[in-house]
Amino acid sequence: MPLLTIENLPGSGIVVPPGATLLAAIQGVGHDWRHACGGKGRCTTCRVQVLAGAQNLTPLTAPELRYRAAGYLLATERLTCQARLLQGDVLGRVPEATKLPHVQYGQ
Ligand code: FES
Repeated sequence: MPLLTIENLPGSGIVVPPGATLLAAIQGVGHDWRHACGGKGRCTTCRVQVLAGAQNLTPLTAPELRYRAAGYLLATERLTCQARLLQGDVLGRVPEATKLPHVQYGQ
């Protein structure tokens, strides 16, 4: 199954079940991840910086296109509550601005 690896979170790759959002998969293995609007695509706090494998993700959703056009979502970022993994693997990291104060992040 496709794997999501977040390089600055502890642990190994996260299996992303078919049809699941990245956010659901991340939370499913117990990681605390910022998601201020509850996964409704109405904020950008759940974003992930994609370092490799962006082509393996589902196309940008309407909220992502809107935030990208407005400059709130970088070309290298996806909303984890919107993106799903189609095939292959993805490598990402938690952006500095969305880190949670109580979570220990790696380099
Ligand atoms: S949790 Fe708000 S946009 Fe994803």
